[in-house]
Amino acid sequence: MLKQDVLNALTKNNGQFVSGQELSGQLGVSRAAVCKAVKFLCAQGYVIESRTNKGYRLISPPARLTRESVASALGSGAQLHPLEVLDSTDSTNTHLKRMALEGAPHGTVVLAEQQTGGRGRFDRVFHSPPGKGIYLSLLLRPTLPANKLMVLTAFTAVAVCRAIEQTCALRPQIKWTNDLILGGKKLCGILTELSLESETGRVQYAVVGIGINVNQESEEFPPELSSIATSLKSAAGRPISREALIAALLTQLDEMTASAFEAGRAQWLSEYRAACMTIGQAVSVQRGGQKRLGTALSIDEDAALVVRYEDGSVETVNSGEVSVRGLYGYAP
Ligand code: BTN
Repeated sequence: MLKQDVLNALTKNNGQFVSGQELSGQLGVSRAAVCKAVKFLCAQGYVIESRTNKGYRLISPPARLTRESVASALGSGAQLHPLEVLDSTDSTNTHLKRMALEGAPHGTVVLAEQQTGGRGRFDRVFHSPPGKGIYLSLLLRPTLPANKLMVLTAFTAVAVCRAIEQTCALRPQIKWTNDLILGGKKLCGILTELSLESETGRVQYAVVGIGINVNQESEEFPPELSSIATSLKSAAGRPISREALIAALLTQLDEMTASAFEAGRAQWLSEYRAACMTIGQAVSVQRGGQKRLGTALSIDEDAALVVRYEDGSVETVNSGEVSVRGLYGYAP
């Protein structure tokens, strides 16, 4: 079978480039057929670099994330979070909420190779194909009151930006409150879910879920996402090691589980503001079936969005759907 032959040829080449022309000559097929076989292999989770004038080289077989591979990327000195790595789950957030009810400790992390029911805000589907992305949830048992927890999502956005900058030399922007953007397209979504004790309003736990598009090719996104989603591989022009990015992210998130979170607030809040592309933009704020148009003015100390509406009134928004004109095809 051609796909297997292409794979064998790439494997034999020991990580060196082999041109499409050479492969097509060796295998007696067209270059287009070689290209199609390479795309198929990428969709199966093989990491293959393609370069103009050089051809293809196999970086790694479908890498399964394991506890060991994450630990080894973190390095020997690092302290590992209680960590569970799953082949497949409905949603790492849902899985971790089940663990939280059974008493899992603050700082527990769940990672999955794929999610069959990955979720975003407003129960939107978060596309989570095997081997391509990072689907990670972190359990926190915070002492902050529920109305102050916007900062968890905001801090997480900064932590993901820092980790991406370290490992990929790319600088994403933040769409308030929970999306990371590269080149005007969505790269990452964050979903923070809380469990509250109804009598007291005390936060029992928070689960912060992070989904990053890492090694998808643009044509691997479903049609409804292809114009609005991107991946690190597309932006960097090379495959990205998920383990290295997870290690950088866990190191950044450690600040949140430690006391440095509050002490470092002025610093990370200023990074959030600098990266936030929502500020100064025309926005629509949708809540409870109502939609209001205005301009995003600033991010306050609790990471809420300050908006001036068309009637001149100013509101601090900390929930609801905020669309930015020109982003994801939104035109008010
Ligand atoms: C959004 O786009 O609104 C947020 C997407 C959050 C996706 C992550 S992937 C890991 C965790 N598990 C989920 O089901 N969702 C979050």
